[in-house]
Amino acid sequence: MKFCAILLALVSTVVAQSASIAYPQDGTSFAPGSEFTLTIIKPNSLSASPDISAAIGIIPCNDDGSCPTLGTILFKGLFNPQYSTPPGSLPPHQNFTLQIPPTFSAEKAQIGVFRSYLTGAEATPAHETFATTIQVTSGTASASAPVPTGASRRSMRITGKLNL
Ligand SMILES: *[C@@H]1O[C@H](CO)[C@@H](O)[C@H](O)[C@H]1NC(C)=O
Repeated sequence: MKFCAILLALVSTVVAQSASIAYPQDGTSFAPGSEFTLTIIKPNSLSASPDISAAIGIIPCNDDGSCPTLGTILFKGLFNPQYSTPPGSLPPHQNFTLQIPPTFSAEKAQIGVFRSYLTGAEATPAHETFATTIQVTSGTASASAPVPTGASRRSMRITGKLNL
């Protein structure tokens, strides 16, 4: 009984303080093919759970909003969160430079992370998954950069009308 209570306490601590995605936040928009930085943070209180690896994938969400697997793998390899030098406001973290697949367009997509680590005095293997949901726009990365003169003139005219 006592052992179970301790085990439950340990498990809930781990569940309550997992690693997470600090950026991009839910709802961020990206053009197909664009590069972005994904930041995974790991609360300092988890330092006793040595990290092993991470896999990061992107998948279009289903019509019912579910996005059950990692999909297209954008990264797999060692996960080794560190403080910035000099230390900034972020807890231990790792930045990954990733690219939205150019084939994604005008859809909601999930960026999911699978993290494996060791936990407890006996180094029990464990893993967790967490995710963020983004919106992929229909334009290409280059078209979403500086707006062509014609397009900007058109949108200025619309803004002017709305203000009247
Ligand atoms: C990761 O990126 C964030 C945001 O751009 C930055 O503040 C931080 O210093 C970077 N961390 C490292 C270790 O480069």
